[in-house]
Amino acid sequence: MINLPMIIGGQKIHKNEKIEVIYPYTQEVIGQVPKGNPEDVEKAVEKAKIGLEKLKSLSSYEKYRILMKVASLLEKRKEEFARTIVYEVGKTIREARTEVERCINTVIFSAEEAKRIPGEYVHIDASPNGKGKKGFYFREPAGIVAAITPFNFPLNLTAHKIAPSIAAGCPFVLKPSERTPLSPTMLCELFLEAGVPEEAVSIIPGFADVGQAMTTHPDVRVVSFTGSLKVGEIIAKQAGLKKIVMELGSNSAVVVDKDADLEKAAKKSVLGGFAVAGQVCISVQRILVHEDVASQFQELLKREVSKLKFGDPMDEETDVGPVITVDEVNRIQSWIKEAVEKGAKIEKGGIACAEEKTVFQPTIVYDVPEESKLFYEEAFAPVVTVKKFKDIDEALELVNKTNYGLQVGVFTNNLNNAWKFIKHAHVGGVIINDIPTFRADNMPYGGVKGSGIGREGPRYAIEDYTEIKVVVFDLNE
Ligand code: SIN
Repeated sequence: MINLPMIIGGQKIHKNEKIEVIYPYTQEVIGQVPKGNPEDVEKAVEKAKIGLEKLKSLSSYEKYRILMKVASLLEKRKEEFARTIVYEVGKTIREARTEVERCINTVIFSAEEAKRIPGEYVHIDASPNGKGKKGFYFREPAGIVAAITPFNFPLNLTAHKIAPSIAAGCPFVLKPSERTPLSPTMLCELFLEAGVPEEAVSIIPGFADVGQAMTTHPDVRVVSFTGSLKVGEIIAKQAGLKKIVMELGSNSAVVVDKDADLEKAAKKSVLGGFAVAGQVCISVQRILVHEDVASQFQELLKREVSKLKFGDPMDEETDVGPVITVDEVNRIQSWIKEAVEKGAKIEKGGIACAEEKTVFQPTIVYDVPEESKLFYEEAFAPVVTVKKFKDIDEALELVNKTNYGLQVGVFTNNLNNAWKFIKHAHVGGVIINDIPTFRADNMPYGGVKGSGIGREGPRYAIEDYTEIKVVVFDLNE
């Protein structure tokens, strides 16, 4: 049983009221953390004001050194972190190890960015009223950051918020997903051990009341949220005049053109559709395949899905672990049923395992009508859908047809067709000859439409965590 504290301004606090952490695979309680409330948020924000002043007194180099130390502390405890992630998320041990490696890189990228937060000389005298004036701007910390993170990458998506926050000089108050508070708490402990000023570090596990207290607090200057569109819309309404960064969901498409490398497209689509049991914002959900190559591609896809081993996430051989709760199994089952009632066909899977109730079998569904949830909502489950298109314009129209727009993958060897997507797809990222699930932790990552506002990736997050201050001199030259 892992028993961790909540942290308010660097102080570790235990409470009688707890949130239990459940291992999705066995449904056993494997950990607990204190249950936070709005008063805890108030205390954390008061501490963060002191943290902001302390961070301001650190040099860029000192912030770099502290974050590099976080990375090296994590490096030494990689396996412990990975196993904790398996227990709280249910992702496979191999996926959890990858997440820890990625987190180390995210922290290192943030450390490096702490050294090069940009400023610029501005030619004020290019303006008719600027004669005799000289100017420059630099970036200052925006203030206290409220960070809210999801369950699917509890460690790395937390690092994507709190490491750039410290690099920018901003204290943070973090609310991790109530289902996965363990590895985020352990990461915050490393931040303290590495020397981040203690008042700058708070983590408050809790529910909507904690999130609301954080996002509406007048002294919070930045809200950084990763989660559902529904919650994102509530936060956007209630946050008021703050900077808002939101990574919301998607139902990402991959396009397989008639001249694509079908073998590669099938293998990669399976990787992108079933990693973390499909619970990734950029999972492959909608595979759109040219009708000339559809039957060949579908055979390859079925072959690749048949190879997947599903079940125990701690087994080194497992490819697909459980989804987060039984409720999620029921939800996805009802979405598949709806699609089938409207004319879709299940090619593979479509059911949960009898004994392992949260393990949903990797599923392929064909010909999903556009008016089914499986097409226009975010499935967040180990399900891929396949739909044929006649020409590239139809594929583009299908990609753009939903309310989401995070990333799209396009397998093609036709430069003009690739360019069509680069230019006209309504998304934050176009990945040519790979899946939408591709993400490097230093690239700008985020979406348009219902997929969010702003970009993560340490350099881009720092833009949101800082404010430009311009300086103008009137000089007698
Ligand atoms: C997400 O689900 O938005 C994160 C995907 C990733 O970092 O790979």
